[in-house]
Amino acid sequence: MLPRVASAEDAKDLTQRTQPRVSPFRALKTLMLFLVLGVGFSLFSLYMTRHLTVQNMVMQARSTFQSCFEEQQVTLERWVRPPSSLMHSMSDEELLWRASFVPQVKEYPYNRVPKIAFMYLTRGPLPLSPLWEKFYRGNEGLYSIYIHALPSYVANFSSDSVFYQRQIPSQVSEWGRMSMCDAERRLLANALLDLSNEWFVLLSEACIPMRNFSFMYQYFKRSKHSFIGAVDDVGPYGRGRYDLRMMPEVNISDWRKGSQWFEVNRKLAVAIIKDSIYYPKFDKFCRPACYVDEHYFPTMLTIQLPHLLANRSVTWVDWSRGGAHPATFGRGDINEAFLTKVIGDRVCEYNGQNTTDCFLFARKFAPSALEPLLELAPSLLGFG
Ligand SMILES: *[C@@H]1O[C@H](CO)[C@@H](O)[C@H](O)[C@H]1NC(C)=O
Ligand SMILES: *[C@@H]1O[C@H](CO)[C@@H](O)[C@H](O)[C@H]1NC(C)=O
Ligand SMILES: *[C@@H]1O[C@H](CO)[C@@H](O)[C@H](O)[C@H]1NC(C)=O
Ligand SMILES: *[C@@H]1O[C@H](CO)[C@@H](O)[C@H](O)[C@H]1NC(C)=O
Ligand SMILES: *[C@@H]1O[C@H](CO)[C@@H](O)[C@H](O)[C@H]1NC(C)=O
Repeated sequence: MLPRVASAEDAKDLTQRTQPRVSPFRALKTLMLFLVLGVGFSLFSLYMTRHLTVQNMVMQARSTFQSCFEEQQVTLERWVRPPSSLMHSMSDEELLWRASFVPQVKEYPYNRVPKIAFMYLTRGPLPLSPLWEKFYRGNEGLYSIYIHALPSYVANFSSDSVFYQRQIPSQVSEWGRMSMCDAERRLLANALLDLSNEWFVLLSEACIPMRNFSFMYQYFKRSKHSFIGAVDDVGPYGRGRYDLRMMPEVNISDWRKGSQWFEVNRKLAVAIIKDSIYYPKFDKFCRPACYVDEHYFPTMLTIQLPHLLANRSVTWVDWSRGGAHPATFGRGDINEAFLTKVIGDRVCEYNGQNTTDCFLFARKFAPSALEPLLELAPSLLGFG
């Protein structure tokens, strides 16, 4: 509202009417009154401000306390539950650090059901996924799946697939280069974030399961060793790739070769992701024609934890045709005789006993192999 504007006439009138009655003493008294009122009001508002602030703080503290209490109910569940999403924005450095946490009390204070972490190192799609879906069915709670693909690849698994939203943050990796080992460590580290994962299996898109889930589970659970290939090959493709500059960390007598496709237990997985002693040596001195993914983990683990290694892989592969790459099998190769041969291909040791149960997985299979494999799986592979 606009203030009422007194006219010049009014003002004159007012002056005329009041002027004679104002004595200097009265003016002083009025001034004093205003002063007292002013001071009083200042004190009052100061008090109100402080009072309200304190009240606000109390209210804030109370609500913070309440929300903490409601969210967490701080139970053990909070520390045991795996991350709700596999996507995160941690750098490799941050991820490896977080994944290296190991409980020092060895007894779990809850019923921990150990799981197998199946880690797929792929470029993109998983053409044999329908076979794997059948393999996993009915074993929920006993496995976790992780997929490392090219960063540009967008997976489109439907929400009822076991592969739905199982991609981890990935980077470009090149065969035979350290970036390949980086991808494997990234897979291991992401899988280590789930405390229930006990066995870690590295697979490619060309791998298939040769046994049913329960067979594999018991095989890993009862084994005293982890299944990573590690042989001392004295030839040019073995010791021939050793570089003397790796001394003193790596002596040639510790130099090992193995296939890239491994199974390791939690202890070995942590040893791999926390390593900062051997990594720089392999990074610098094992470059093509030294293929670092065939040597780094087998050699490093042979030096650090040799007694936990079976020194053989559980993934069957056919090198018999010669050349730089193993044989790939397609539709025409898949029949009963072939699968039976693969399953019982060899005699090997398991916990110090000879056995023909040597292989749980096989590679390499082309997408065209899917149909006959789905057909033969129930009778020959024990699932589907
Ligand atoms: C995913 O994409 C491929 C090719 O882009 C398509 O053939 C396939 O049907 C899609 N799958 C699903 C589940 O949408
Ligand atoms: C898994 O395969 C084994 C033989 O390899 C068989 O004895 C067992 O019954 C199979 N389990 C299931 C759940 O099919
Ligand atoms: C390498 O290992 C062998 C056998 O274990 C040993 O005899 C040799 O002294 C070692 N070399 C060095 C330089 O330590
Ligand atoms: C694997 O090799 C290491 C030495 O390289 C040895 O200590 C270990 O006993 C071997 N494992 C088995 C199961 O023989
Ligand atoms: C396993 O078989 C090999 C021959 O293939 C034999 O020399 C060895 O003694 C056997 N080991 C056991 C524990 O039976």
